[in-house]
Amino acid sequence: MTQRIAFVTGAMGGLGTAICQAFAKDGYKVVAAYHPEFDNKDAWLAEMAEAGFKDFVCVAGDVADLASCAAMVTAAEAAAGPVDILVNNAGITRDKMFAKMEKDQWDAVISTNLTSLFNMTKQVSAKMAAQGWGRIINISSVNGVKGQAGQANYAAAKAGVIGFTKSLAQELATKGVTVNAIAPGYVATKMVMAIREDILKSIVDTIPMRRLAKPEEMGALCSYLASDLAGYMTGATLNINGGLYFQ
Ligand code: CAA
Ligand code: NAP
Repeated sequence: MTQRIAFVTGAMGGLGTAICQAFAKDGYKVVAAYHPEFDNKDAWLAEMAEAGFKDFVCVAGDVADLASCAAMVTAAEAAAGPVDILVNNAGITRDKMFAKMEKDQWDAVISTNLTSLFNMTKQVSAKMAAQGWGRIINISSVNGVKGQAGQANYAAAKAGVIGFTKSLAQELATKGVTVNAIAPGYVATKMVMAIREDILKSIVDTIPMRRLAKPEEMGALCSYLASDLAGYMTGATLNINGGLYFQ
């Protein structure tokens, strides 16, 4: 079998790094997509090489921009080949109580966390269907399932990710292409470490396991969803949240 190509957005962030490493261990060719303004790419690549991951293809682009996504996928195809596995992982927060939330904070989160799924998936889904195999994995959030004070924008986008996932799963079910979402709880990454310390402590106190998730725990789940043996699972949203919330 030829080597599968896995394209991961937000690849150089917390979850993205763990997902890239899990896929590399599974033997896939990994395309690590990063934001053009990210200025630590060389340091990230050096860190990956140090850890034994030397073969990542890097492409830069803005997932909130359709033309940029098209250019990233064209570059990935030229460097590695057609994309077999897409992980829509890039995301941001702009937390504010709704009374204080500005329109630009709403727009930024909706375009980066939700419209990005249209922008990226549009580049690969028809080709996956034509080749008869594909995996699309969308990163939602526990807060897209349960809601969260201070995150009306983020929870709306992450709930939208779930609706997108369920719909596209039905459209692609006969084509060998599965579409699933994972809904992580609070994971120890830059995004969570930006929460005020006392608020974060009070959140962790409500998690039955009383700890944050490790990024590798998300990588392992993506690894399963990308595998051949996950071929009967589609349209699912997998909660992985230390018991914080059950659907
Ligand atoms: N429910 C209801 N009301 C709440 C509340 C809650 N959980 N938390 C605070 N409030 C109320 C406060 O009592 C206060 O009310 P009054 O004005 O009447 O006194 C009002 O909301 C303002 O609260 P704050 O002083 O906390 O407001 P702030 O502007 O300082 O902070 C915030 C707002 C930035 C949203 C802050 O509360 C916060 O960071 N909350 C955590 C949000 C969160 O969980 N973000 C997750 C980020 S990581 C991520 O998103 C990854 C993932 O997918 C899990
Ligand atoms: P992170 O470390 O901040 O990584 C997010 C990555 O997305 C960063 O590399 C960031 O690049 C990139 N990105 C942001 N905007 C982008 C854009 N417009 N175009 C391209 N790339 C962009 O956060 P993380 O915790 O790993 O989050 C990854 C995903 O998991 C997000 O979708 C997040 O919502 C979701 N999630 C996280 C948690 C958690 O607790 N951490 C829980 C549930 C779901 P820059 O750094 O250059 O901006």
